[in-house]
Amino acid sequence: MRPQTVSIVKAVLLTALLLPLLQLAWQVFQTVQGSGDGLGANPIERLTHRTGELALYCLLLSLAATPLRILTGRAVVMRFRRMVGLVSFSYAVLHFGIYILDRSLTEEGFTLREVGKDIAKRPYITIGTLAFVMLLLLAVTSTNGMIRRLGRSWQTLHRLVYPAALLAVIHFAWLVKAGLVKPLSLGAVLLVLLAIRVPSWLRPAPKKGKAAVAKSQAPE
Ligand code: HEM
Repeated sequence: MRPQTVSIVKAVLLTALLLPLLQLAWQVFQTVQGSGDGLGANPIERLTHRTGELALYCLLLSLAATPLRILTGRAVVMRFRRMVGLVSFSYAVLHFGIYILDRSLTEEGFTLREVGKDIAKRPYITIGTLAFVMLLLLAVTSTNGMIRRLGRSWQTLHRLVYPAALLAVIHFAWLVKAGLVKPLSLGAVLLVLLAIRVPSWLRPAPKKGKAAVAKSQAPE
């Protein structure tokens, strides 16, 4: 695929992944203006759920790059993985931010100390936070500079995406009050995306020098 085409596909993909955010922003604007109730009776809860779901959907989409490469033989799909991963992280940051906002609005004298207590107290929040910390690590080490600097350990570090996705699915399944269908279906998607990788995990990796390692890891 020509570099120009890759850039166009990236721009279209990024727009598609951010459209839900635009819709949420519009619904927030309408709710604040009192001119619409797109966020329903409990806007904060709706925003928490929606941003959490979008973070998880984008995480699974970024995990679909390697299976797509394995199944199609088209390595170009890897060129979109980092961007999709960073969009997932951005939605997770929003999700965490709305959670903090929610707690600070609902609890008198709410402090960050309370966040810590809440994270420790409620297991599904603990698990969500673990997933978040892993996504944070992946995001801050996703630059070309970090890939070159970390060399072989970059690939090891970025395997954290697997437990992060698993924890996010468990977080979702643990907290839903009604209907496990959605978290379990997302869990099934995750298992399929991981299962497609197993043969390549079992195949011994070809010996490569440091430069070749950095080159093979650079998503772009
Ligand atoms: C920073 C740590 C996190 C905190 C404090 C947190 C907190 C929450 C809270 C309070 C809810 C709503 C619970 C309820 O309705 O009672 C929720 C739902 C959810 N969170 Fe998180 N979360 C975190 C990280 C994550 C991450 C990293 C992901 C995905 C990558 C995620 C995905 C979800 C999903 C999918 C839902 C359920 C949405 C629904 O019910 O439709 N969360 N989270």
